[in-house]
Order: sequence, then structure tokens, then C-alpha cells
Amino acid sequence: MAANVTVVDHPLVQHKLTLMRDVTRSTKGFRELLNEIGMLLAYEVTRDLPLEPVTIETPLQAMEGQQIAGKKLVLAPILRAGVGFLDGMLSLMPAARVAHIGIYRDPESLQAVEYYFKSPSDLADRTVLVLDPMLATANSAVAAIEQLKRRGALDLRFVCLLAAPEGIAHLQRVHPDVPVWTAAIDSHLNDHGYIVPGLGDAGDRMYGTR
Ligand code: PRP
Ligand code: URA
Repeated sequence: MAANVTVVDHPLVQHKLTLMRDVTRSTKGFRELLNEIGMLLAYEVTRDLPLEPVTIETPLQAMEGQQIAGKKLVLAPILRAGVGFLDGMLSLMPAARVAHIGIYRDPESLQAVEYYFKSPSDLADRTVLVLDPMLATANSAVAAIEQLKRRGALDLRFVCLLAAPEGIAHLQRVHPDVPVWTAAIDSHLNDHGYIVPGLGDAGDRMYGTR
């Protein structure tokens, strides 16, 4: 496996991913599963966040507990499909900030087209989780991370559901400092830049568009 890539092989994640890949899965089911997997991936991607001691009072006595150190995280979904991870992750990290990144992939050139960006201004002081279920050519992920870095982000992690080997290689070539968490690494990209075997177009399956 490529350096700096974590495949989350937890049975719950793998089971839900298989349900999502199934072409007969409804829009409602697809969206619910993406939300649930978002929650499970949030658990894994935050596993090594630094803790700091805090003194509290239990009903019996004072004690030193642990709390997450530093400022609240930023969740940065790439529109549209990245939004599918957001609610699940926010249910575990309700105080996280959110950066919306509007990018779509031109279907002919497969180049990233940027159309919206809104983030907290103090990105340099926060860990940023970039969210997108699909890492195919990685053109979208590379462009999103470039935008976040331009606005000061220094500590970034990329979270996806499916990755193509080509996308991982591209992302790590351009942004070797950004580790990746994914539920699976699939076989390859087809001639249209779709992940094979994949799950099709994540945004369309989430929102019932085509
Ligand atoms: C999909 C997906 C990623 C991108 C991945 O978005 O959600 O953002 O493609 O492909 P890449 O790694 O080759 O860039 P899409 O372009 O379909 O936009 P949409 O979600 O707004 O429909
Ligand atoms: N975007 C998707 O939604 N699916 C793919 O397989 C590739 C890019």
C-alpha cells in the first residue's frame, strides 16, 4: 500500500460500502449509508488527535481528564458528494467548523472546475479534513487542497470512500504532506475517468440526478 494511506477495513465500513456499490440501492439508502460511513471514518481519521489534561470535578472528587487540544477542526466537503459525509461527521464533532468547496470535474477534460469557496479565516491554526467520497484522477482533490493551502491551511487530511491507484499516486505526488483515509482502493480508472468497479457517479446517486 502507498505510504500515508490508511484503508479503513472495519467490518461495518466494508459491509456498508458493499451495500452502497449495489446498483439497486435507492437514493435514500445510498445517502443514509454515506452518512453512516462518514461517522465511522471520522472515528478513524481523528484517532491520533493530540489530547491535553483538564481538571474536572466528578460527583466524588476532582480528577484530571483528557480533552482534545487546540482549536476545533474544519470539515471541508467538496461539493456535491462530499456533503454526504458531513452530517455523520458533525454528529461526532458538533463544534467543528465547515469550509464549503465548490468544484466539479469537466466530463470531457476531467479537469477540475472551481466555482465556490467559503472557509473560516484561521485555517493555519486548525486541522482540516477534506471530504469527498471519490478520489478518481485526484484533479478535484488536488485543486481543493491547493485552495485551502493558499488560504493558510498547514495540517490537512483527505477522507474518501473509494480511491483509484492513479488518484492516490497523483495526490501524493502533488501534496505528499496530506495523508489519505479511504474505505477501499479499487482496481483502476476506465476511459471516462470512472473508478472500476467503483459505485458510479456519487453525486448523482446521492441526489437522484443524472
Ligand atoms: C465527483 C466526486 C469528486 C470527483 C472525483 O464529483 O465527487 O469530487 O468527481 O473525480 P476526480 O478525482 O477525477 O477529480 P463531480 O465532478 O461528479 O461533481 P458533482 O459531485 O458536483 O456532480
Ligand atoms: N466521480 C464519481 O462520482 N465517480 C467516479 O467513479 C469517478 C469520479
